[in-house]
Amino acid sequence: MTETKIKPVPTLPDAQTVTEVEHYTDRLFRFRCTRPQSLRFRSGEFVMIGLLDDNGKPLLRAYSIASPSWDEELEFYSIKVPDGPLTSRLQHIEAGDEIILRPKPVGTLVLDALLPGKRLWFFATGTGIAPFASLMRDPDTYERYEQVIMMHTCRTADELEYGRKLVEDLENDPLIGEMVEGKLLYYPSTTRDDFKTKGRITENLKSGKVFADLGLAGDRLDPATDRGMVCGSLAFNLDMKDLLEGYGLGEGANSEPAEYVVEKAFVD
Ligand SMILES: Cc1cc2nc3c(=O)[nH]c(=O)nc-3n(C[C@H](O)[C@H](O)[C@H](O)COP(=O)(O)OP(=O)(O)OC[C@H]3O[C@@H](n4cnc5c(N)ncnc54)[C@H](O)[C@@H]3O)c2cc1C
Ligand SMILES: NC(=O)c1ccc[n+]([C@@H]2O[C@H](COP(=O)([O-])OP(=O)(O)OC[C@H]3O[C@@H](n4cnc5c(N)ncnc54)[C@H](OP(=O)(O)O)[C@@H]3O)[C@@H](O)[C@H]2O)c1
Repeated sequence: MTETKIKPVPTLPDAQTVTEVEHYTDRLFRFRCTRPQSLRFRSGEFVMIGLLDDNGKPLLRAYSIASPSWDEELEFYSIKVPDGPLTSRLQHIEAGDEIILRPKPVGTLVLDALLPGKRLWFFATGTGIAPFASLMRDPDTYERYEQVIMMHTCRTADELEYGRKLVEDLENDPLIGEMVEGKLLYYPSTTRDDFKTKGRITENLKSGKVFADLGLAGDRLDPATDRGMVCGSLAFNLDMKDLLEGYGLGEGANSEPAEYVVEKAFVD
């Protein structure tokens, strides 16, 4: 009698299993997956994730880790580009599916790239909120800064939902809730929809509206006390750089901390 050999089921390289998927709009969703035991990262960093393409080759893209470093799973917040090579497929993943995750975190949106200060500002458009979803849930953020201000702008109110829910859950969290209370100020706005706060981040900073609305001291950022982290489209990042440098803040890096750091949320 001949012996039948059982072939092992082929598995993806650096495979992780999807544990949860939530869709917000036809352009946005979040998902969670298992975390490689050896993966250590700093809140704000990104990794390469993806799927196999039709030829069995890894199709990878940069993704900010949206979960904090203490979480036993990983979370990602994603765009769905209709004809995007990766996200036209990734948007269909379900719990139990496998994705590829290269466990080599990198990035400039880390607290270590900033000098100490009093107020920390997070400036994000669209999916650029992902690295701040990690940093907002990291106790280290609140240990280092007295006040944390999250400004997030999208075209429409439904695109703000991921950030809104995250901040709400954080305020009610039995562990971090107390730490966040009164320290985290959330300032969402839209540019093409009716919403309680309207306008681009750049405009709401220049006009001083955000200071007035949140009851903050002053009407502009001060390089002695304010630190900034920027994540959005190229145009947004460039406008923010001009604005922050106009206030006297200098760009920092891992090797040379300064007053602000910036990273692209996607490649245009
Ligand atoms: C450092 C870094 C971190 C990133 N983190 C994230 C993240 O956390 N979540 C996420 O969704 N994407 C993130 N991206 C973008 C991501 O790498 C992919 O571009 C995205 O997943 C689309 O992949 P794709 O293959 O479907 O289309 P691609 O061929 O990569 O992109 C097609 C076009 O879609 C647009 N686009 C791509 N990504 C976005 C986006 N996020 N928001 C708006 N328009 C976009 C651009 O116009 C782009 O030219 C990041 C990119 C960089 C450089
Ligand atoms: N979001 C959608 O509904 C939608 C639908 C179809 C296609 N797309 C395409 O997908 C891509 C990404 O869309 P997105 O909505 O994620 O990103 P986006 O177009 O960069 O807009 C995100 C937010 O950032 C603001 N913004 C853009 N440039 C800015 C700047 N220089 N300074 C300050 N604020 C700025 C936008 O305001 P403004 O509204 O004032 O520009 C908007 O509120 C774009 O190419 C877009 O054409 C988007």
